[in-house]
Amino acid sequence: MSKVAVVTGGIGGLGTAMCKALIEQGRRAVAVDFHGLKPEAVDKWQADRKSEGLDIPVYLGDVTNFESCAEVCKKIEAEVGPIEILVNNAGITRDALFHKMTPEQWDAVIKTNLYSLFNMTKQVYEGMTARGWGRIVNIASVNGLRGQAGQTNYSATKAAVYGFCKALAQECVRKGVTVNSISPGYIGTEMVRAIREDVLQKVVAGIPAARLGEPSEIARTVAFLTADDAGYITGEDITVNGGLYYH
Ligand code: CAA
Repeated sequence: MSKVAVVTGGIGGLGTAMCKALIEQGRRAVAVDFHGLKPEAVDKWQADRKSEGLDIPVYLGDVTNFESCAEVCKKIEAEVGPIEILVNNAGITRDALFHKMTPEQWDAVIKTNLYSLFNMTKQVYEGMTARGWGRIVNIASVNGLRGQAGQTNYSATKAAVYGFCKALAQECVRKGVTVNSISPGYIGTEMVRAIREDVLQKVVAGIPAARLGEPSEIARTVAFLTADDAGYITGEDITVNGGLYYH
């Protein structure tokens, strides 16, 4: 039977590519996304996937809320099967230079990008360790590695991903569960395209590859880290950034 792989932020730009890559790898992909989404948007996404021959269940919840994550994961396990792969991909930006950043912008990013790691991982961890197999991948960012002006909130949460991964990896590698992260650079998703045009042009000019990345370039890394034979890679981060980190 196919292993169940849950992707948070599953119907977004990166999440969609991740679901597809996981299916190509023989997994049963399940998308978890924000309960505030319009039902029409979810229906359209599922219809688009159907037209590509893909049947991907979508569950709506709130990754900032522990109880909501518990409810969603329980439902998935009852209706689809035990969650053996978790990709903590849900994330938001609320960019502002620090002197202009509001407590609301700080809180929203910390809760969505960081609390979500605890809230979601906690729901699946016991099952994975009890069964003796699991793969957890957390999406960090080049801006967690190097910091980015205008992103003290986001950079702080993405840097936190490394500590979370490295600590949890040590706790569960003997139980067959790996915990890794991926640090994407600037990928051509809505999040990046929302950057002001003049600023985005400067960003792209600074990328050694001279282009934005493709969501599929992140998704293939998710497939790599969650493969059956990836059990000896843990506590690791893979950067996928067109050479940006080294500028
Ligand atoms: N380094 C140093 N100083 C900077 C700077 C930078 N990168 N960016 C802006 N500043 C300075 C400017 O030089 C300017 O200084 P002066 O007033 O002295 O000229 C000052 O800050 C104000 O700049 P802005 O006019 O741009 O200020 P703003 O308030 O209108 O906008 C901002 C600020 C929203 C942060 C905007 O600069 C911005 O969007 N920057 C890009 C941030 C970014 O890269 N976000 C990534 C989003 S995608 C993502 O996060 C995915 C991922 O994982 C990679």
